[in-house]
Amino acid sequence: MGKIIAIDGPSGSGKSSVSKKLAEMLGFTYLDTGAMYRAVALKLRQNKIAEDADDKIITDILRNTSLLFQDGKLFLDGVMVGDEIRTPEIGHYSSVFSARKVVRDFLFEIQRMAAEKNDIVAEGRDMTTVLFPDANGKFFLTASDRERARRRYLQLNEKGMDITMEDALRDVRERDDRDSHRDIAPLRKADDAILIDSTNLSEDETLKRIVEYIK
Ligand code: DC
Repeated sequence: MGKIIAIDGPSGSGKSSVSKKLAEMLGFTYLDTGAMYRAVALKLRQNKIAEDADDKIITDILRNTSLLFQDGKLFLDGVMVGDEIRTPEIGHYSSVFSARKVVRDFLFEIQRMAAEKNDIVAEGRDMTTVLFPDANGKFFLTASDRERARRRYLQLNEKGMDITMEDALRDVRERDDRDSHRDIAPLRKADDAILIDSTNLSEDETLKRIVEYIK
């Protein structure tokens, strides 16, 4: 196992940009586990799999799915994953399918393997609680739901996606609720994770706090 910094938090908490910058700063590999759930959701939707499909149907698709994490990049069936996983629709399905044990089991090994060979900054919902409870640094990033919706709104608009502030707020609240109340690996703060509320912090200020703790 390499060194691991684990960061969890709800959508729009700023954990992706902060984790990416932190990884760059430390010379670690950035592991975006949300992107993996999104890639699986994309594959399932490409195969027209419904939200309430049987485990067996999902397992059959996953058996024929290759998801590779290599040099910090994610490859779905041999093709590098890009912005197609960043749509609100795939965001919704990634949250829905991530509640399924068969999906989590499929990704568990891939995520754990990533830490075998590399020093990583891993971000997601269960990095500090399930995947890497013994990580060298554990953080839980959050912000008010309005602030998180505002960030999501700006992000998606920047990518040219048509979304209103109300859509963003509804999306953030729905996903948080589902991700925090599912039976398996729900989003929660680990007892020994450091809580950072970034509502009134810039990205750099948040990063600075994390770096201070790591030191
Ligand atoms: O971080 P994100 O918005 O890209 O994640 C998309 C969804 O994937 C999120 O709503 C819940 C799920 N997810 C998860 O269940 N566990 C993780 N470690 C990361 C993401």
